[in-house]
Amino acid sequence: MEMILPEDVSYIINKLEDAGYEAYAVGGCVRDTILGRKPLDWDITTSAQPSFIKSCFKKTIDTGIQHGTVTVMIKDTGYEVTTYRIDGEYEDSRHPKSVEFTSSLRLDLERRDFTVNAMAFNNKTGLVDEFGGIQDLKDGIIRCVGDAKSRFGEDALRMLRAVRFSGQLGFDIEKKTLQAISEMAGNLKAVSAERIMTELGKLLVSDNPGKIREAHKTGLTKVFIPEFDKVMEAGQHNPHHIYTVGEHCIRSAGIMVQFFNSDRPIDGGIYNYIPTSVLKKVADFTSDIDRKHQLMLCLSMLLHDIAKPEVMVIDENGTGHFHGHPQVGEKMASAILKRLSFDNETVSTVKRLVKHHDYRIVPEPRAVRRAVAKIGSDIMHMLFLVQYADILAQNPNTFAQKLGTLDSVTEVYKEVIANKAPLCIKDLAVNGTDLIASGVQKGPEIGRILDKLLDIVLDEPEKNEKALLLNYAYKEISRR
Ligand code: CTP
Repeated sequence: MEMILPEDVSYIINKLEDAGYEAYAVGGCVRDTILGRKPLDWDITTSAQPSFIKSCFKKTIDTGIQHGTVTVMIKDTGYEVTTYRIDGEYEDSRHPKSVEFTSSLRLDLERRDFTVNAMAFNNKTGLVDEFGGIQDLKDGIIRCVGDAKSRFGEDALRMLRAVRFSGQLGFDIEKKTLQAISEMAGNLKAVSAERIMTELGKLLVSDNPGKIREAHKTGLTKVFIPEFDKVMEAGQHNPHHIYTVGEHCIRSAGIMVQFFNSDRPIDGGIYNYIPTSVLKKVADFTSDIDRKHQLMLCLSMLLHDIAKPEVMVIDENGTGHFHGHPQVGEKMASAILKRLSFDNETVSTVKRLVKHHDYRIVPEPRAVRRAVAKIGSDIMHMLFLVQYADILAQNPNTFAQKLGTLDSVTEVYKEVIANKAPLCIKDLAVNGTDLIASGVQKGPEIGRILDKLLDIVLDEPEKNEKALLLNYAYKEISRR
């Protein structure tokens, strides 16, 4: 394995070494480089104290000076440089009461969460791997440094981090580490919603979102999303489904990730049954979707059936029915996401996708135009992805026909868009000012007439002409 440090990182390390201190790249950047992944950022650990670090570089920011962290700015990039430290006793599974600086690299590495995150590297010494990180990277294992319970006692979020790393790296969580999570899962309640949200998000868009099963089995999800534990236990009693509600939701989230990464197997390749033709179809809708919206889609899959246990009715033949679950689910999804501190745009988009996930559109232009007007053209492409993922996570013996219908709907949708058919008030050939100019009184009447005109052009788009619509408007007011 050859580690090549970026120029800026070498510069920072050399500068500190030239002054007689030790300095190393450490943590995630070392792990990711060894794995052949591009690190998100580079962190440096050093025996130098913060005041000295600051004196060495032109531009620095006091990021977390009380914890020994200074951000060194090189051009526009920031590098966190942290003094070797031993975390003091933790007050609340989150914050150390105090941190103590040390001159020992080993002690600094020893307080870190996982062996794969506790390696350091510089060009002078090479790799420092005191806790078997390389072996665990080779074996694909997430293992705490030293005693797992002590590590989780210091920071309870680490339990969820273990699951997130196992999702991102496709690793298994080592037995004792997993056991410690099961025993200590309840401590996650001391951790802030924001920190939990970040880990959940990273897990869901990872290559193995299915690892959320580990979070469920160990009792972590019960702490921050108990509604999910309920769906994990809910059978569907319905021929369209072969999985529990929760298992269906997990698989649909994995399928969503697979849509965005058709070049590699997600969740170990369990979705390789998805026809290539479907992957090609969904590519039309995934192409313009950024990371943030991918997460919204994965959250939508996780939560789309969250209300099923609340509304389930079993009929006399023993079949389960879930009438109204999208509407109840919309409310539940909103409450869950707000509780987890997701931003307003995420909450509102996921709510809308959950509400409409089961909306069955007839594959003909008029019905498609009406559906777009009702649902909103800004999320239609996302809704189609939700519907494809939902279908593909159902009973494989019954989904062929549903896929066929959805294919037809999306084809019609593409035509509707290509024809630039009017789909909302904004698309009308007249606006409020035109109506006022032609004698309609300012006020709610304007909105009512515009709604009426939209109704007309949704049926007959060719009528979207100014003179024609003003004529309709005129007739409308004369009738009152
Ligand atoms: N760390 C830790 N315990 C935590 C958080 C972080 O021991 N609760 C240590 C680990 O050594 C980790 C390093 O601090 O590698 C940097 O943390 P962070 O940036 O959160 O994680 P990365 O490992 O860099 O991974 P990613 O950037 O993907 O989050």
